[in-house]
Amino acid sequence: MKIGVDYYPEHWDKALWEEDASLMKKTGVSVVRLAEFAWSRLEPREGEFDFSWLDEVIELFSSKGIEVVLCTPTNCPPLWLYEKYPNAVQTGRDGRKIAIGIRGHRCYNDPDFLRLADRIVDLLTSRYKDNKAVVAWQIDNELEANFCFCETCTGRYREWLKEKYQTLENINKAYKNNVWSGEYSSWNQVNPPFGSYNYAWFNPAYMLDFNRFASDDAIEYIKRQRDIIRKNCPDVKITTNTWFCEKMIDFYREFSELDFVSYDNYPTTKLPENPEECYSHAFHLDLMRGIKKQNFWVMEQLSGGMGSWAPMSRMPSPGMINGYSLQAFAHGADTVVHFRWRTAVGGAEMHWHGLIDHSNVPSRRFFEFKELCKTAKALEDLRGSEIKSEVAILYSADSEYAFKIQPQTDTMYYLEQLKLLHNAFLKLGVNVDIVSEKDSFEGYKVIAAPELYVADEFVAKRLYAAAENGASVILTNRCGVKDNHNNCIMSPLPTVFRTLVGASVEEYDPIGYDSVDIRFADGEVFKAKQWCDIINPETAEPIAFYDGDYFKGKCAAAKNNVKKGTAFYIGTVGEKKLYQKIVKEALELSGVDFIEGIPDGIEITTRESQNKKVWFIFNNTDKEKSFELFGKTLTLKPFEMKIQRA
Ligand code: GLA
Ligand code: ZN
Repeated sequence: MKIGVDYYPEHWDKALWEEDASLMKKTGVSVVRLAEFAWSRLEPREGEFDFSWLDEVIELFSSKGIEVVLCTPTNCPPLWLYEKYPNAVQTGRDGRKIAIGIRGHRCYNDPDFLRLADRIVDLLTSRYKDNKAVVAWQIDNELEANFCFCETCTGRYREWLKEKYQTLENINKAYKNNVWSGEYSSWNQVNPPFGSYNYAWFNPAYMLDFNRFASDDAIEYIKRQRDIIRKNCPDVKITTNTWFCEKMIDFYREFSELDFVSYDNYPTTKLPENPEECYSHAFHLDLMRGIKKQNFWVMEQLSGGMGSWAPMSRMPSPGMINGYSLQAFAHGADTVVHFRWRTAVGGAEMHWHGLIDHSNVPSRRFFEFKELCKTAKALEDLRGSEIKSEVAILYSADSEYAFKIQPQTDTMYYLEQLKLLHNAFLKLGVNVDIVSEKDSFEGYKVIAAPELYVADEFVAKRLYAAAENGASVILTNRCGVKDNHNNCIMSPLPTVFRTLVGASVEEYDPIGYDSVDIRFADGEVFKAKQWCDIINPETAEPIAFYDGDYFKGKCAAAKNNVKKGTAFYIGTVGEKKLYQKIVKEALELSGVDFIEGIPDGIEITTRESQNKKVWFIFNNTDKEKSFELFGKTLTLKPFEMKIQRA
């Protein structure tokens, strides 16, 4: 495992560089990431370049054997660029240019911006192409599927639609634009969602496509930079750092264009009081690994209390710096780069803490980081080892967009049941891949497809085939609601999955904040919330019934035999234990080994290479935990990771 730091030489007096690089070396840092916001220092005036400071910094790290990830600095164009080319600034929903002051204001399609961005990316990549210290390139920073409302972007949006639908008639049909007299009769009427209305007031079919366009458009921007980097540095790996944000790019399409996934990982520093909340970042990490089904990097890892635009959070408590990084490794992050080496003393992020505080005196968090570097060194042989999983949870970018476009009921959000299922697998000590619903399901014995809201025959058939061949498949309420245009499917729910689950939904009730009990045949009772599907089992066997409300006695969950396999359907959103019960049965039925009796918050994963299998046992809680594992008593301090080699 490699440990790195994010470093901003342009923020610090030159006199500190050598000191920092030496301390990094001494501490065991092996990678630094540089320059993602440094455009104004690299090109202080249009066409006047100064790479000398960066040459010096790279040389300094290289002389110490520290590897460098260089970033294209295009997230923050300099102010001279915006002054001279005002169209380079994004346009907001009100049709006016957004205010400059923070960062990331560039329009991905503005020709002047692109020309200047191409030039600096070209100059940077050709300058360092033979520099062996540069081991990877990061494109821009935390790219989003921007909604820019300028004329150029609107033009591109129309082009995107033309390519997808050819004619306005086809769009009208696909979007069912006859509702509310929304039929297009000229391309000039095809616009992005201007105005101040909540997006939920727009046609959901149109909004889903608009999200897809914004995602594809951001990917075009990524590809453009990737091609320049590739031309100059054909052997260096290229990535961009992603995270979960409001305007998400479709991860799968995005990273199919890049060499590896990198993720910005900021687990919580204050554990939630509600024991039902799934706070573990293991979920995000398994999702990141599932994007390319390969190990990934963390490009920014929690190093201190978070704050800046929001009030400051709690500091990472003892064990978190170490434990959260090792947790990332346990889930496939081979390199973990910490954000950031030093806490900024200027700029809007001065309260987003790094490893070294404003005091410039290394303290508790820094010393813990130093320990982490030692541990990482001892794990070096495991870099590249694999996390093998017989279990998959399906994540659908379209379903997540569609849930955001149309909130289903109070408190319901797309990721919740994915997290509840993930939590249940984690509790039973099995590795989980979170993969796209469009990906192959081969090799998976248990597949959970919660809330697969936007669905089609393609995914339904493949899930059916997996079940026929012996897999256990778990579906939930809100599966099969929408077709690929985000229109409702006119057939009993779960529509395309009806044969698979052997049941249909007679009626549903979005109960929101209300709750109801559900009772299993063995007498176990669980609390359910948000949503109740009243299920009509057809070939399926009912396994749980509502124990209250006007649908008392009606079926809440069902199980269907599908040749060699089984399909479960959960019609409501339950507490953690409900998912643990179903998941355990699904694992048993499909012959996947699991571990029972793991206490809450203990996460066990394995990594394998050749004939080595290594167990990672992490206490993701703030309490000491003692428990039996493989016949031995283990005691783990808060956030402690124990690593056992077989
Ligand atoms: C993101 C960004 C960083 C920084 C951190 C902390 O991860 O990529 O530049 O802003 O958040 O705020
Ligand atoms: Zn634009």
